[in-house]
Amino acid sequence: MKITVIGTGYVGITTAASLGEIGHQIIGVDIDKLKIEQLNNGILPIYEPGVEPVIQNLLKQGTLHFTTSLQEAMKETEIIFIAVGTPQLSDGRPDLKYVDEVAREVGRYMSKYIVIVDKSTVPVGTAERVQSLIMEQLNLRKLSVSFDVVSNPEFLQEGKALQNSRNPDRIVLGCSSRAAEEIMLKLYDNIDAPKHITSPRNAEMIKYASNSFLATKITFINEMARLCDLLAVDVVEVAKGMGMDKRIGPYFLQAGIGYGGSCFPKDVSALAMMGREANMEMSILRSIQEINQTQTDWFLGRVKESMGVLDGKRITLLGLAFKPDTDDIREAPSLKLIQKLLTEGAIVTGFDPVANNKIKNIFPNVKISEDAYSAAKDAEAVVICTEWKEIIDLDWRTIKSLMHGNFIFDGRNALDGDMLQLEEFQYWGVGRSLNKIV
Ligand code: UGA
Repeated sequence: MKITVIGTGYVGITTAASLGEIGHQIIGVDIDKLKIEQLNNGILPIYEPGVEPVIQNLLKQGTLHFTTSLQEAMKETEIIFIAVGTPQLSDGRPDLKYVDEVAREVGRYMSKYIVIVDKSTVPVGTAERVQSLIMEQLNLRKLSVSFDVVSNPEFLQEGKALQNSRNPDRIVLGCSSRAAEEIMLKLYDNIDAPKHITSPRNAEMIKYASNSFLATKITFINEMARLCDLLAVDVVEVAKGMGMDKRIGPYFLQAGIGYGGSCFPKDVSALAMMGREANMEMSILRSIQEINQTQTDWFLGRVKESMGVLDGKRITLLGLAFKPDTDDIREAPSLKLIQKLLTEGAIVTGFDPVANNKIKNIFPNVKISEDAYSAAKDAEAVVICTEWKEIIDLDWRTIKSLMHGNFIFDGRNALDGDMLQLEEFQYWGVGRSLNKIV
Protein backbone atom coordinates (compact mmCIF):
# COMPACT_ATOMS: atom_id res chain seq x y z
CA MET A 1 0.00 0.00 0.00
CA LYS A 2 1.10 3.61 -0.53
CA ILE A 3 1.60 5.33 2.78
CA THR A 4 2.57 8.85 3.82
CA VAL A 5 4.04 9.43 7.27
CA ILE A 6 4.05 13.06 8.41
CA GLY A 7 6.67 13.88 11.04
CA THR A 8 10.15 12.39 11.14
CA GLY A 9 10.70 12.29 14.89
CA TYR A 10 10.89 9.10 16.89
CA VAL A 11 7.32 7.92 16.15
CA GLY A 12 7.43 8.90 12.45
CA ILE A 13 10.72 7.19 11.70
CA THR A 14 9.91 3.98 13.55
CA THR A 15 6.46 3.89 11.87
CA ALA A 16 8.08 4.37 8.45
CA ALA A 17 10.63 1.62 9.19
CA SER A 18 8.12 -0.90 10.49
CA LEU A 19 5.54 -0.34 7.72
CA GLY A 20 8.31 -0.35 5.11
CA GLU A 21 9.59 -3.66 6.48
CA ILE A 22 6.23 -5.35 5.90
CA GLY A 23 6.25 -4.35 2.25
CA HIS A 24 4.47 -1.00 2.00
CA GLN A 25 5.71 1.98 -0.04
CA ILE A 26 6.44 4.88 2.23
CA ILE A 27 6.94 8.60 1.80
CA GLY A 28 8.13 10.43 4.90
CA VAL A 29 7.28 14.13 5.13
CA ASP A 30 8.75 16.86 7.31
CA ILE A 31 9.07 20.64 7.03
CA ASP A 32 12.74 20.54 8.09
CA LYS A 33 14.74 20.57 4.81
CA LEU A 34 18.07 19.59 6.36
CA LYS A 35 16.52 16.65 8.19
CA ILE A 36 14.89 15.45 4.96
CA GLU A 37 18.19 15.73 3.08
CA GLN A 38 19.97 13.72 5.76
CA LEU A 39 17.22 11.12 5.93
CA ASN A 40 17.39 10.63 2.16
CA ASN A 41 21.10 9.91 2.71
CA GLY A 42 20.26 7.36 5.40
CA ILE A 43 21.28 9.59 8.33
CA LEU A 44 18.77 9.39 11.20
CA PRO A 45 18.02 12.15 13.73
CA ILE A 46 17.19 9.53 16.40
CA TYR A 47 19.08 6.70 18.09
CA GLU A 48 17.12 3.45 18.07
CA PRO A 49 18.85 0.06 17.78
CA GLY A 50 18.36 -1.57 14.37
CA VAL A 51 16.28 1.18 12.74
CA GLU A 52 19.06 2.81 10.71
CA PRO A 53 19.89 -0.29 8.62
CA VAL A 54 16.18 -0.87 7.95
CA ILE A 55 15.74 2.72 6.73
CA GLN A 56 18.93 2.53 4.63
CA ASN A 57 17.78 -0.73 3.09
CA LEU A 58 14.33 0.65 2.20
CA LEU A 59 15.96 3.74 0.65
CA LYS A 60 18.19 1.50 -1.44
CA GLN A 61 15.25 -0.64 -2.57
CA GLY A 62 13.41 2.54 -3.54
CA THR A 63 10.36 1.74 -1.37
CA LEU A 64 10.99 4.70 0.95
CA HIS A 65 11.88 8.31 0.37
CA PHE A 66 11.56 11.56 2.26
CA THR A 67 10.26 14.91 1.05
CA THR A 68 9.23 18.32 2.36
CA SER A 69 6.24 18.39 0.01
CA LEU A 70 3.06 16.96 1.47
CA GLN A 71 1.28 17.86 -1.76
CA GLU A 72 3.64 15.60 -3.73
CA ALA A 73 3.34 12.81 -1.17
CA MET A 74 -0.45 12.97 -1.22
CA LYS A 75 -0.81 12.42 -4.97
CA GLU A 76 -1.05 8.66 -4.74
CA THR A 77 -1.26 7.94 -1.05
CA GLU A 78 -3.95 5.68 0.41
CA ILE A 79 -3.17 6.32 4.08
CA ILE A 80 -1.62 9.30 5.85
CA PHE A 81 -0.09 8.82 9.29
CA ILE A 82 0.09 11.89 11.51
CA ALA A 83 3.18 11.36 13.65
CA VAL A 84 4.09 14.91 14.64
CA GLY A 85 5.10 16.00 18.12
CA THR A 86 2.57 16.88 20.83
CA PRO A 87 4.76 18.73 23.36
CA GLN A 88 3.43 19.36 26.84
CA LEU A 89 1.91 22.76 27.62
CA SER A 90 2.59 24.35 31.02
CA ASP A 91 -0.82 23.16 32.35
CA GLY A 92 -0.08 19.50 31.47
CA ARG A 93 -2.16 19.33 28.29
CA PRO A 94 -0.49 18.30 25.02
CA ASP A 95 -0.05 21.09 22.49
CA LEU A 96 -1.98 20.10 19.36
CA LYS A 97 -0.76 22.92 17.13
CA TYR A 98 1.33 20.63 14.88
CA VAL A 99 -1.50 18.09 14.58
CA ASP A 100 -3.92 20.93 13.70
CA GLU A 101 -1.54 22.35 11.11
CA VAL A 102 -1.11 18.94 9.46
CA ALA A 103 -4.90 18.41 9.40
CA ARG A 104 -5.37 21.76 7.61
CA GLU A 105 -2.60 20.94 5.13
CA VAL A 106 -4.19 17.57 4.38
CA GLY A 107 -7.53 19.32 3.78
CA ARG A 108 -5.82 21.78 1.40
CA TYR A 109 -4.50 19.03 -0.88
CA MET A 110 -6.95 16.15 -0.55
CA SER A 111 -8.79 15.26 -3.75
CA LYS A 112 -9.75 11.59 -3.26
CA TYR A 113 -10.67 9.20 -0.44
CA ILE A 114 -7.80 8.84 2.04
CA VAL A 115 -7.60 7.37 5.52
CA ILE A 116 -5.90 9.75 7.95
CA VAL A 117 -4.40 7.99 10.96
CA ASP A 118 -3.52 9.64 14.27
CA LYS A 119 -0.34 7.94 15.46
CA SER A 120 0.75 10.70 17.83
CA THR A 121 -0.55 10.41 21.39
CA VAL A 122 -3.50 12.78 21.43
CA PRO A 123 -6.38 13.44 23.84
CA VAL A 124 -9.81 11.89 23.50
CA GLY A 125 -11.73 13.73 20.80
CA THR A 126 -8.71 14.56 18.61
CA ALA A 127 -9.81 12.33 15.72
CA GLU A 128 -13.05 14.36 15.60
CA ARG A 129 -11.04 17.58 15.77
CA VAL A 130 -8.83 16.45 12.86
CA GLN A 131 -11.96 15.47 10.94
CA SER A 132 -13.51 18.91 11.33
CA LEU A 133 -10.28 20.78 10.46
CA ILE A 134 -10.02 18.80 7.23
CA MET A 135 -13.73 19.42 6.51
CA GLU A 136 -13.22 23.17 6.98
CA GLN A 137 -10.55 23.21 4.29
CA LEU A 138 -12.60 21.06 1.93
CA ASN A 139 -15.55 23.43 2.42
CA LEU A 140 -13.31 26.41 1.63
CA ARG A 141 -12.33 24.61 -1.57
CA LYS A 142 -16.01 23.79 -2.18
CA LEU A 143 -15.00 20.15 -2.61
CA SER A 144 -16.93 17.15 -1.46
CA VAL A 145 -14.45 14.34 -0.84
CA SER A 146 -15.05 11.52 1.59
CA PHE A 147 -12.31 10.52 4.03
CA ASP A 148 -11.92 8.81 7.41
CA VAL A 149 -9.88 9.59 10.49
CA VAL A 150 -8.60 6.61 12.45
CA SER A 151 -6.86 6.47 15.82
CA ASN A 152 -4.06 3.87 15.79
CA PRO A 153 -2.01 4.51 18.93
CA GLU A 154 1.64 3.67 19.20
CA PHE A 155 2.77 1.20 21.88
CA LEU A 156 6.47 0.99 20.98
CA GLN A 157 9.07 1.24 23.74
CA GLU A 158 12.19 3.23 23.01
CA GLY A 159 15.15 0.91 22.64
CA LYS A 160 12.87 -1.96 21.55
CA ALA A 161 10.91 -0.32 18.76
CA LEU A 162 11.62 -2.82 16.00
CA GLN A 163 11.12 -5.80 18.26
CA ASN A 164 7.78 -4.34 19.44
CA SER A 165 6.57 -3.45 15.94
CA ARG A 166 7.42 -6.89 14.51
CA ASN A 167 5.73 -8.64 17.36
CA PRO A 168 3.15 -6.37 19.03
CA ASP A 169 0.86 -7.57 21.85
CA ARG A 170 -2.04 -5.93 20.02
CA ILE A 171 -2.92 -3.42 17.34
CA VAL A 172 -5.62 -0.95 18.36
CA LEU A 173 -7.69 0.48 15.52
CA GLY A 174 -10.16 3.22 16.35
CA CYS A 175 -12.24 3.37 13.18
CA SER A 176 -15.41 5.27 12.41
CA SER A 177 -16.39 3.44 9.23
CA ARG A 178 -16.34 -0.03 7.73
CA ALA A 179 -14.21 1.25 4.80
CA ALA A 180 -11.50 2.58 7.16
CA GLU A 181 -11.57 -0.66 9.15
CA GLU A 182 -10.98 -2.75 6.02
CA ILE A 183 -8.10 -0.55 4.85
CA MET A 184 -6.42 -0.65 8.27
CA LEU A 185 -6.79 -4.44 8.49
CA LYS A 186 -5.23 -4.76 5.03
CA LEU A 187 -2.36 -2.49 6.13
CA TYR A 188 -1.51 -4.73 9.08
CA ASP A 189 -2.41 -8.00 7.37
CA ASN A 190 1.23 -9.19 7.50
CA ILE A 191 1.50 -8.68 11.24
CA ASP A 192 0.39 -11.59 13.33
CA ALA A 193 -1.17 -9.87 16.34
CA PRO A 194 -4.68 -9.50 17.77
CA LYS A 195 -6.44 -6.47 16.31
CA HIS A 196 -8.76 -4.59 18.61
CA ILE A 197 -11.25 -2.66 16.53
CA THR A 198 -13.10 0.04 18.37
CA SER A 199 -14.13 3.69 18.09
CA PRO A 200 -11.55 6.49 17.70
CA ARG A 201 -12.42 7.91 21.16
CA ASN A 202 -11.96 4.51 22.79
CA ALA A 203 -8.64 4.00 21.01
CA GLU A 204 -7.41 7.41 22.16
CA MET A 205 -8.27 6.52 25.75
CA ILE A 206 -6.67 3.05 25.47
CA LYS A 207 -3.32 4.72 24.83
CA TYR A 208 -3.50 7.06 27.84
CA ALA A 209 -4.96 4.41 30.12
CA SER A 210 -2.26 1.89 29.13
CA ASN A 211 0.64 4.26 29.75
CA SER A 212 -0.87 5.54 32.99
CA PHE A 213 -1.51 2.00 34.20
CA LEU A 214 2.11 1.04 33.52
CA ALA A 215 3.26 4.19 35.34
CA THR A 216 0.97 3.15 38.22
CA LYS A 217 2.49 -0.32 38.35
CA ILE A 218 6.02 1.11 38.55
CA THR A 219 4.98 3.66 41.13
CA PHE A 220 3.21 1.05 43.24
CA ILE A 221 6.36 -1.06 43.44
CA ASN A 222 8.43 2.07 44.13
CA GLU A 223 6.22 2.90 47.10
CA MET A 224 6.46 -0.73 48.24
CA ALA A 225 10.25 -0.38 47.95
CA ARG A 226 10.20 2.53 50.38
CA LEU A 227 8.29 0.41 52.88
CA CYS A 228 10.43 -2.69 52.25
CA ASP A 229 13.46 -0.58 53.05
CA LEU A 230 12.04 0.31 56.45
CA LEU A 231 10.95 -3.24 57.26
CA ALA A 232 14.12 -5.03 56.14
CA VAL A 233 12.32 -6.74 53.26
CA ASP A 234 13.73 -7.22 49.74
CA VAL A 235 11.39 -5.66 47.15
CA VAL A 236 12.99 -7.69 44.33
CA GLU A 237 11.83 -10.89 46.04
CA VAL A 238 8.42 -9.34 46.69
CA ALA A 239 8.02 -8.32 43.03
CA LYS A 240 9.07 -11.81 41.90
CA GLY A 241 6.51 -13.43 44.17
CA MET A 242 3.78 -11.01 43.14
CA GLY A 243 4.54 -11.32 39.43
CA MET A 244 4.03 -15.09 39.46
CA ASP A 245 0.32 -14.40 39.82
CA LYS A 246 -0.89 -14.26 36.21
CA ARG A 247 -3.40 -11.58 37.15
CA ILE A 248 -0.52 -9.32 38.21
CA GLY A 249 2.22 -10.37 35.78
CA PRO A 250 5.98 -9.89 36.22
CA TYR A 251 6.45 -6.82 34.00
CA PHE A 252 6.92 -3.22 35.08
CA LEU A 253 7.51 -4.23 38.69
CA GLN A 254 11.15 -3.21 38.76
CA ALA A 255 11.61 -0.72 41.58
CA GLY A 256 14.01 2.11 40.88
CA ILE A 257 14.63 5.83 40.96
CA GLY A 258 11.41 6.56 39.12
CA TYR A 259 10.09 6.50 35.59
CA GLY A 260 11.15 9.09 33.02
CA GLY A 261 11.08 9.56 29.26
CA SER A 262 8.95 11.48 26.85
CA CYS A 263 5.80 9.43 27.44
CA PHE A 264 4.84 8.41 30.98
CA PRO A 265 5.32 11.80 32.70
CA LYS A 266 3.56 13.63 29.84
CA ASP A 267 0.74 11.12 29.41
CA VAL A 268 -0.07 10.85 33.12
CA SER A 269 -0.29 14.68 33.26
CA ALA A 270 -2.45 14.79 30.15
CA LEU A 271 -4.86 12.16 31.49
CA ALA A 272 -5.08 13.98 34.83
CA MET A 273 -5.86 17.14 32.87
CA MET A 274 -8.56 15.36 30.86
CA GLY A 275 -10.13 14.38 34.19
CA ARG A 276 -9.96 17.94 35.49
CA GLU A 277 -11.55 19.27 32.30
CA ALA A 278 -14.38 16.77 32.84
CA ASN A 279 -14.69 17.99 36.48
CA MET A 280 -13.21 14.84 37.88
CA GLU A 281 -10.18 14.76 40.15
CA MET A 282 -7.97 11.77 39.25
CA SER A 283 -6.58 11.04 42.70
CA ILE A 284 -4.63 7.90 41.74
CA LEU A 285 -2.84 9.81 38.99
CA ARG A 286 -2.11 12.68 41.37
CA SER A 287 -0.46 10.28 43.84
CA ILE A 288 1.55 8.64 41.07
CA GLN A 289 2.92 12.00 39.98
CA GLU A 290 3.79 12.92 43.55
CA ILE A 291 5.54 9.62 44.36
CA ASN A 292 7.45 9.60 41.09
CA GLN A 293 8.57 13.19 41.57
CA THR A 294 9.89 12.45 45.06
CA GLN A 295 11.53 9.10 44.28
CA THR A 296 14.95 10.68 43.58
CA ASP A 297 14.71 12.68 46.88
CA TRP A 298 13.99 9.47 48.74
CA PHE A 299 16.91 7.76 46.99
CA LEU A 300 19.25 10.64 47.78
CA GLY A 301 18.12 10.44 51.42
CA ARG A 302 19.40 6.85 51.48
CA VAL A 303 22.71 7.93 49.91
CA LYS A 304 23.13 10.61 52.59
CA GLU A 305 22.22 8.19 55.36
CA SER A 306 25.09 5.95 54.23
CA MET A 307 27.70 8.53 53.25
CA GLY A 308 26.90 11.44 55.54
CA VAL A 309 27.37 14.98 54.25
CA LEU A 310 27.91 14.93 50.48
CA ASP A 311 29.78 18.21 50.22
CA GLY A 312 33.10 17.56 48.47
CA LYS A 313 32.39 13.83 48.01
CA ARG A 314 33.17 12.30 44.60
CA ILE A 315 30.14 10.53 43.19
CA THR A 316 29.98 8.81 39.80
CA LEU A 317 26.69 8.24 37.99
CA LEU A 318 26.62 5.39 35.46
CA GLY A 319 23.86 5.31 32.82
CA LEU A 320 22.27 8.69 32.21
CA ALA A 321 19.63 8.09 29.52
CA PHE A 322 16.08 7.61 30.88
CA LYS A 323 16.40 3.88 30.12
CA PRO A 324 18.87 1.55 28.36
CA ASP A 325 19.37 1.44 24.57
CA THR A 326 18.39 5.02 23.92
CA ASP A 327 20.14 8.39 23.92
CA ASP A 328 16.93 10.03 25.15
CA ILE A 329 17.38 11.98 28.38
CA ARG A 330 13.95 13.62 28.49
CA GLU A 331 12.69 13.55 32.11
CA ALA A 332 15.52 11.13 32.94
CA PRO A 333 15.79 10.64 36.72
CA SER A 334 19.57 11.08 36.30
CA LEU A 335 18.99 14.77 35.52
CA LYS A 336 17.21 15.33 38.84
CA LEU A 337 19.86 13.36 40.67
CA ILE A 338 22.78 15.27 39.13
CA GLN A 339 21.12 18.58 40.01
CA LYS A 340 20.44 17.52 43.61
CA LEU A 341 23.96 16.13 44.10
CA LEU A 342 25.47 19.36 42.76
CA THR A 343 23.28 21.36 45.15
CA GLU A 344 24.60 19.21 48.02
CA GLY A 345 28.15 20.13 46.95
CA ALA A 346 29.13 16.68 45.61
CA ILE A 347 31.72 16.41 42.83
CA VAL A 348 29.79 14.59 40.12
CA THR A 349 31.18 12.52 37.25
CA GLY A 350 28.97 10.77 34.72
CA PHE A 351 29.08 8.21 31.95
CA ASP A 352 26.48 6.92 29.51
CA PRO A 353 27.14 4.66 26.51
CA VAL A 354 25.30 7.02 24.13
CA ALA A 355 23.82 10.05 25.94
CA ASN A 356 27.08 11.70 27.11
CA ASN A 357 26.91 14.69 24.74
CA LYS A 358 23.34 15.52 25.67
CA ILE A 359 24.25 15.59 29.37
CA LYS A 360 27.33 17.74 28.66
CA ASN A 361 25.09 20.36 27.05
CA ILE A 362 22.88 20.58 30.14
CA PHE A 363 25.58 20.31 32.81
CA PRO A 364 28.80 21.85 31.49
CA ASN A 365 30.27 21.63 35.03
CA VAL A 366 29.80 17.88 35.36
CA LYS A 367 32.77 15.81 34.24
CA ILE A 368 31.58 13.34 31.61
CA SER A 369 33.87 10.38 30.96
CA GLU A 370 34.28 8.43 27.76
CA ASP A 371 34.13 5.08 29.56
CA ALA A 372 32.82 3.69 32.82
CA TYR A 373 36.23 2.79 34.23
CA SER A 374 37.63 6.32 33.93
CA ALA A 375 34.35 7.64 35.35
CA ALA A 376 34.76 5.44 38.43
CA LYS A 377 38.37 6.51 39.08
CA ASP A 378 38.73 8.02 42.57
CA ALA A 379 34.96 7.91 43.17
CA GLU A 380 33.75 7.39 46.73
CA ALA A 381 30.43 6.10 45.45
CA VAL A 382 29.00 4.80 42.20
CA VAL A 383 25.30 5.26 41.45
CA ILE A 384 23.55 3.19 38.79
CA CYS A 385 20.86 5.33 37.16
CA THR A 386 20.20 3.24 34.04
CA GLU A 387 20.67 -0.50 33.64
CA TRP A 388 22.58 -0.61 30.35
CA LYS A 389 23.83 -4.15 29.76
CA GLU A 390 27.36 -2.93 29.26
CA ILE A 391 27.21 -1.28 32.70
CA ILE A 392 25.86 -4.39 34.43
CA ASP A 393 28.59 -6.42 32.72
CA LEU A 394 31.47 -4.20 33.91
CA ASP A 395 34.37 -5.83 35.69
CA TRP A 396 33.38 -4.70 39.16
CA ARG A 397 36.60 -5.88 40.76
CA THR A 398 38.49 -3.45 38.50
CA ILE A 399 35.96 -0.71 39.29
CA LYS A 400 36.58 -1.30 43.01
CA SER A 401 40.34 -1.07 42.54
CA LEU A 402 39.95 2.27 40.74
CA MET A 403 37.60 3.81 43.33
CA HIS A 404 38.59 5.73 46.38
CA GLY A 405 35.64 4.38 48.37
CA ASN A 406 33.35 1.38 48.15
CA PHE A 407 29.71 2.50 48.00
CA ILE A 408 27.42 1.29 45.23
CA PHE A 409 23.90 2.67 45.08
CA ASP A 410 21.99 0.62 42.55
CA GLY A 411 19.11 2.82 41.41
CA ARG A 412 17.73 0.06 39.16
CA ASN A 413 18.34 -3.07 41.25
CA ALA A 414 20.26 -4.37 38.28
CA LEU A 415 23.46 -5.63 39.90
CA ASP A 416 24.18 -8.74 41.92
CA GLY A 417 24.38 -7.22 45.41
CA ASP A 418 25.61 -10.41 47.09
CA MET A 419 28.49 -10.76 44.64
CA LEU A 420 29.41 -7.09 45.09
CA GLN A 421 29.42 -7.44 48.88
CA LEU A 422 31.88 -10.32 48.50
CA GLU A 423 34.05 -7.87 46.55
CA GLU A 424 33.83 -5.63 49.63
CA PHE A 425 31.55 -3.08 48.13
CA GLN A 426 28.92 -1.53 50.38
CA TYR A 427 25.92 -2.29 48.16
CA TRP A 428 22.52 -0.64 48.50
CA GLY A 429 19.65 -1.37 46.13
CA VAL A 430 16.24 0.31 45.98
CA GLY A 431 14.01 -1.27 48.63
CA ARG A 432 16.47 -4.10 49.24
CA SER A 433 16.84 -2.93 52.87
CA LEU A 434 19.63 -0.93 54.42
CA ASN A 435 20.87 -3.81 56.55
CA LYS A 436 22.78 -4.96 53.46
CA ILE A 437 25.32 -2.22 54.15
CA VAL A 438 28.10 -3.71 56.20
C1 UGA B 1 6.36 3.77 27.06
C2 UGA B 1 5.43 2.55 26.93
O1 UGA B 1 6.02 1.44 27.59
C3 UGA B 1 5.18 2.22 25.46
O2 UGA B 1 4.26 1.14 25.36
C4 UGA B 1 4.61 3.45 24.76
O3 UGA B 1 4.41 3.22 23.36
C5 UGA B 1 5.57 4.61 24.93
O4 UGA B 1 5.77 4.87 26.35
C6 UGA B 1 4.96 5.82 24.28
O5 UGA B 1 3.92 6.29 24.74
O6 UGA B 1 5.46 6.25 23.22
P1 UGA B 1 8.99 4.20 26.85
O7 UGA B 1 8.70 5.56 27.41
O8 UGA B 1 9.83 4.08 25.63
O9 UGA B 1 7.62 3.43 26.51
O10 UGA B 1 9.74 3.37 27.98
P2 UGA B 1 9.40 2.22 29.04
O11 UGA B 1 10.18 1.03 28.70
O12 UGA B 1 7.96 2.06 29.20
O13 UGA B 1 10.02 2.86 30.37
C7 UGA B 1 9.55 4.10 30.89
C8 UGA B 1 10.24 4.42 32.19
O14 UGA B 1 9.82 3.52 33.21
C9 UGA B 1 11.77 4.31 32.15
O15 UGA B 1 12.34 5.41 32.85
C10 UGA B 1 12.06 3.02 32.87
O16 UGA B 1 13.32 3.01 33.49
C11 UGA B 1 10.94 3.00 33.90
N1 UGA B 1 10.61 1.64 34.38
C12 UGA B 1 10.11 0.70 33.53
C13 UGA B 1 10.78 1.32 35.73
O17 UGA B 1 11.23 2.17 36.55
N2 UGA B 1 10.44 0.07 36.17
C14 UGA B 1 9.95 -0.87 35.34
O18 UGA B 1 9.65 -2.00 35.82
C15 UGA B 1 9.78 -0.55 33.99
